[in-house]
Amino acid sequence: MPESSIVVRPEPVDSGTYTAASRLQAAGLTRATEIFAEAAAAVPLPTPPQPIVLADYGAATGHNALLPMGAAISVLRNRTRPEHSVLVAHTDRPDNDFTALFRTLEEDPDTYLHKDRAAFASAVGRSFYSQILPSNSVNLGWSAWAIQWLSHVPAPVHGPHLQVATCGDDELQAAYAKQAARDWHEFVAFRGRELCPGGRLVVTTMGIGDDGEAGFRPLLTAIADALAEVTAAGVISADEAARMCIPTVARTAADVTAPFAPSGVFERLSIAHLEIVDAQDRFWDRYQADKDAADFGARWAGFARASLFAALSAALDGGLANPRCADLHERLEKGIAERLAAAPERTQIPLAYVVLEKRR
Ligand SMILES: C[S@@+](CC[C@H](N)C(=O)[O-])C[C@H]1O[C@@H](n2cnc3c(N)ncnc32)[C@H](O)[C@@H]1O
Repeated sequence: MPESSIVVRPEPVDSGTYTAASRLQAAGLTRATEIFAEAAAAVPLPTPPQPIVLADYGAATGHNALLPMGAAISVLRNRTRPEHSVLVAHTDRPDNDFTALFRTLEEDPDTYLHKDRAAFASAVGRSFYSQILPSNSVNLGWSAWAIQWLSHVPAPVHGPHLQVATCGDDELQAAYAKQAARDWHEFVAFRGRELCPGGRLVVTTMGIGDDGEAGFRPLLTAIADALAEVTAAGVISADEAARMCIPTVARTAADVTAPFAPSGVFERLSIAHLEIVDAQDRFWDRYQADKDAADFGARWAGFARASLFAALSAALDGGLANPRCADLHERLEKGIAERLAAAPERTQIPLAYVVLEKRR
């Protein structure tokens, strides 16, 4: 997914409602940034001229990482000299839009590059389900809204349920759970190699709390209904519709801790912090204030378009290159916006924050 999701993406600078605070209203970002700053205060630092290395796993455009990186760099700067260099490695899959990333790093008013003269940026275009940085090189890691995407889709979720969490098919859920467990195991193992002794990694991802809910239900229902409408209108075939799914997984606390059992240590890593919370639905909060149902529907539909439509359209004959793609996206966005505007409700957004620490 080249585009950062709107639910986590802050207001654009030119939106008229932009303030530094509104950027921090991105779902879960405020709390994650606090946790990241605490990690920056705790990690051991290398001796200059060895740079302090920060890694951003699953960076997309880098937009949402600017404030957390900036917060961590300012904590680190208070612990070391002004000329001690900080190197940030933004990583994503090879098909990510790295041009957009470099533009954000250069041009965004909140870029850490313009706030700290000894901060430097770099990028790695490789999947984080392998080792992508040198062993013992990363002092502080960050990964937000990225590891819910599986390395491999076990099988499409057929029928009206787009998401495995709500499909009710035990066998399919077991296959996804197995893949999710393997991916988390690999992700942790490789970060265990890359982190320096005493280094920390802060992960924000889709969670499942004690109520067993993976969240996002109103949106998933609206997408499924809009898909049924475009199928009935002949925009996509019934076969294409049946293949469409959103291959993301949410994780429970038990899923997160599994690789660390029974000793609590895995690849020299242990869990320093784990919390699963219900994150703010800022589109709902906005609707509570302005009662603009059309705007509420449009915002959630915009989020769906930016973050989920590419995964759905991959199921078209010929994939994303299919010429019907653009029409499909227009109709789907409109259909989702109308449905959510007709019955606005708060969306549950369960989020997991995990901090891993490598033994010194
Ligand atoms: C929803 S975006 C989140 C971007 C950003 N971290 C944020 O908080 O807004 C998810 C990102 O994870 C990336 N991603 C998914 N699977 C990945 C993988 N196996 N390796 C590296 N990046 C991956 C996607 O390409 C996408 O850019």
